[in-house]
Amino acid sequence: MKKLFPDNFLFGGAIAANQAEGGYLEAGKGLGICDVLPAGKERLLHIAKELDPALYYPSHQGIDFYHHFKEDVALLKEMGLRCFRFSINWPRIFPKGDEQQPNQEGLAFYEELIDLLLEAEIEPIVTISHYETPLYLVEKYGGWNHREMIDHFMRYCTVLFERFGEKVTYWMSFNEINNIIKIPWFAGAMDLSGVENPAQQQYQAAHHMFVAHALAVKTLKEYNTQALMGCMLSLSGVYPETPKPEDIFGSYQFRRNSLFFSDVMIRGTYPSYSKRLFEELKVTLDIGEEDLALIKKHTSDYLAFSYYLTTVYSDELVMMTGTGGPQGKKNPYLESSQWGWQIDPLGLRYVCNELYDRYQIPLMVAENGLGARDSKSEDGRFNDVERQNYLKEHLLALSEAVQDGCEIIAYTWWGILDIVSAGTGEMEKRYGMIYVDCDNQGRGTLKRERKESFYYYQKIIADNGEKLKEL
Ligand code: BG6
Repeated sequence: MKKLFPDNFLFGGAIAANQAEGGYLEAGKGLGICDVLPAGKERLLHIAKELDPALYYPSHQGIDFYHHFKEDVALLKEMGLRCFRFSINWPRIFPKGDEQQPNQEGLAFYEELIDLLLEAEIEPIVTISHYETPLYLVEKYGGWNHREMIDHFMRYCTVLFERFGEKVTYWMSFNEINNIIKIPWFAGAMDLSGVENPAQQQYQAAHHMFVAHALAVKTLKEYNTQALMGCMLSLSGVYPETPKPEDIFGSYQFRRNSLFFSDVMIRGTYPSYSKRLFEELKVTLDIGEEDLALIKKHTSDYLAFSYYLTTVYSDELVMMTGTGGPQGKKNPYLESSQWGWQIDPLGLRYVCNELYDRYQIPLMVAENGLGARDSKSEDGRFNDVERQNYLKEHLLALSEAVQDGCEIIAYTWWGILDIVSAGTGEMEKRYGMIYVDCDNQGRGTLKRERKESFYYYQKIIADNGEKLKEL
């Protein structure tokens, strides 16, 4: 009988520094772009460059991973995780971003974390920039639409590769780089409110990030030829609403808005359709002499992506977008999460096939998970059945994608510990298999407790997913 997953498949979990660490000004850390985002539905619109004492900023405490990481890694080990994706908080290493020397205390923290993971036989997967650009760089330059960012980013990368290049095999440069179009503050550190043609700034920023990514690929290999650098995109799926040709072609074009980013970072050239796209958006890129050669030469080793949901594209609708992916019309064939995200395991198989057909490079499901409210039942357990079902169905779909011939190197469950939601700043939108006692205002003991999904995932991993169907 065929195996469901390749041997020693990297089953894992993921978090991001700004949603988990806390310790927001500790040990020399500077402010990052998420440290000035308060909690609440308006969070993504509330862009301020300084703190307002009247507001609550969830990243300041997160789940205090900064002080709990030893206990947390022990739990991940107990669960049997084979890999752990986390991000390095850029302003913990370069508090303002433009210093010439890194903050040693920041580096020491990640060194301890990485060593602990390796000791626990958990493969570290490092995101270099997960919505954590130093705020000072935004004040000084205005974000990634300014070319100077490349140098600051590369100084940061070089320090990381020098220190951790031998220990860490899997790296990714920018989390969900295509979100620069939807949520430019997060992905591109840019405040574009009131800007006349945001697309001009967004695509110029993307170009700088493409160059930075290529340079990061190049530089990483100078420190470790075996290390791998992935690009990372938000690639939840999109379906056309009807067989109406406008819906079919419209959804195809809409998808290209995202695939544009992986096209450049994997194929190494601007795709042919981008010429017309730029003309229509009145975008003229300022491209440096060496840029295109760098992008061509240093392409991504693998494609990491987040997948949470699918949505429905309609020609008659302006598509909304958020952290989980695009939000169009509701699909009557799918159930929704408590936050309205439509759950579609088969969509994951579809997206894996779509991406592998297009690129033929290894894929990593870097984020997948269910945000839901949790409560303790009378017997003192967190019986999160929905989360277990979500996990099972998505892993089954993933194993089908493996059988379809897609090369998939890892699956990291998003928010393996409960963390602050990126989109709303809530704690109550919980993804974790480990409960963290903390509410939307940051109140609570921060105590960690195993949910039932913890034991469920543990069982799945124990025999490499082989008994998944019976569990
Ligand atoms: C992705 C981000 O967009 O979605 C994560 O990379 C985020 O940082 C995740 O947490 C889920 O979104 P949310 O808004 O539920 O936290």
